[in-house]
Amino acid sequence: MDAAEWDARYVQSELVWGAPPNNTVVEFVHGLDRRVPRLPGPDGEVPELPRALDLACGEGRNALWLGTHGWQVRAVDFSQVGIDKGRTVATRLSRSIRERITWQCADVTEADVDLGGPYELVLMVFLHLLPAERRQMVRRAAAMLTPGGMLLVLGHDSSNPERGHGGPQDSAILFTPQDVVADLGDDSGIEVDTARQILRPTESGDAIDALVVATKPAP
Ligand SMILES: C[S@@+](CC[C@H](N)C(=O)[O-])C[C@H]1O[C@@H](n2cnc3c(N)ncnc32)[C@H](O)[C@@H]1O
Repeated sequence: MDAAEWDARYVQSELVWGAPPNNTVVEFVHGLDRRVPRLPGPDGEVPELPRALDLACGEGRNALWLGTHGWQVRAVDFSQVGIDKGRTVATRLSRSIRERITWQCADVTEADVDLGGPYELVLMVFLHLLPAERRQMVRRAAAMLTPGGMLLVLGHDSSNPERGHGGPQDSAILFTPQDVVADLGDDSGIEVDTARQILRPTESGDAIDALVVATKPAP
């Protein structure tokens, strides 16, 4: 789906993905702000808050959760409608939290899009790309991590159309945990902590997600 199709999907007033963050994001990220070493950024300064990049943030449910849990977040999506919905939800939060989230409307696969960085956390949650683009994106995301930083990739598993429920049915954009591990390759300098399928309860039955959590080793 392109940006216009996502805009059309998000134009309805309700939140398509709901307001609460994804459970797996919460499970793996909760407490990470205290565990991850915070090292000086390119300007030589140690950031006041840990920094997160939410690639393809949609309506911002995960970015908003991170912001309320003390992260400085850059939330990027190519749907302006999705970004605007996230920003609207943020207006109901306190100013200090609101100011922690930077919203950016951009195609994250474009090499010349400035995604900032480095980050203590990069999320790639339900961003479904064709394999070559996914590989580039995963490798770019890994390269943006600080030492000790975490990359979390989560999406609909390739087995979901046959054995799970809901989600896109186009096998070309689905992936397995092993695909993402292969995308990272041996030369990315990233250690894979978790690569597995997980079940996500939905109203129609359990969906099968592919999860990879990887860390850039701290010195
Ligand atoms: C299934 S939604 C997931 C949204 C969010 N990560 C979440 O979990 O709530 C997929 C999102 O990917 C975005 N997206 C797809 N391709 C993109 C691209 N090339 N650049 C930026 N955003 C993209 C869409 O606009 C959409 O918001």
